[in-house]
Parts: sequence; C-alpha cells; structure tokens
Amino acid sequence: MRKILITAAAAAMLAASLAQAQPQPAPQPAPVTPAPAQPAPGDAPADPGAALVKDRCTMCHDTDIIAASPRPAAAWGDLVASMVRRGAQLNDDEKAQVVAYLAKTYSTPAGT
Ligand code: HEC
Repeated sequence: MRKILITAAAAAMLAASLAQAQPQPAPQPAPVTPAPAQPAPGDAPADPGAALVKDRCTMCHDTDIIAASPRPAAAWGDLVASMVRRGAQLNDDEKAQVVAYLAKTYSTPAGT
C-alpha cells in the first residue's frame, strides 16, 4: 500500500515537472514588411536622349526638322555625327543617348 502511494506521488511530481517543462512559445518578432519602392505614376525618368535633343539640337533649327526626316534606325548615327560636325555640342556618351532616342522615336519602320 505504502509503495503504491509513493509511486502515485512520484508520478504526480513527474507530471507536474513535465507540465512546467513545456517550452514556452518564443515571442515572434513582428514581421517587417518593407514598403515596396513604387514610383509614383507619371514619375518615369525622362529619357536622357530626349532632353539632350531638346537642349542641343535646337541651337540651329527646331526639332520639327527631325520629325520631318525619318530614316532607318541605323542611319541616325551618321546624321548625329554630321550635326556634331556642324557644331552640335555632344560628347560620345551624349551622342549615343541621342542616337538611341532618335532611333527609337523617329525611325522609319524596319525594312523601309
Ligand atoms: C550647329 C547647328 C546645328 C545643330 C546644333 C544641329 N543641327 Fe541639324 N541641321 C543643321 C543645318 C544647318 C541643317 C540643314 C542642312 C542640311 O540639311 O544639310 C540641319 C538639318 C538637320 C536635319 C535634316 C537634314 C537631313 O539630312 O535629314 C536633321 C534630321 C537634323 N538636322 C537633326 C539634328 C539633330 C538630331 C541634332 C542634335 C544632335 C541637330 N540636328 C543639331 C544644323 C544643326
């Protein structure tokens, strides 16, 4: 009888200590959701080539002359080079940006 009581007490203590040993859930850090960097509508960076054309190609004539003389995309490099020979102020980087912009904006459809 006595032995049973001891065993019961031991079992109770064991149960109690097991209950205490329950791991506490670790506090979860609040999830950090960085705000996505979204450009405001209409905030698209202006084409640097477009700004250069407006700035450097209007010394001698309007930009209308460009729209009035479309050419194949591959021909804009020569045109810009000839304008630089006339006096357009463009370094090599700027020339490349202008040519890319003109080719994208004023080219005749491919194959014509
Ligand atoms: C220093 C003066 C000057 C500057 C700067 C200048 N142009 Fe011209 N451009 C001219 C003159 C002069 C003509 C007309 C003579 C001719 O047609 O050959 C002309 C003609 C043109 C024409 C029509 C002629 C053709 O061959 O189709 C285009 C297109 C043109 N320019 C584009 C540009 C662009 C693009 C720029 C800037 C990169 C530019 N120009 C800057 C002097 C200039």
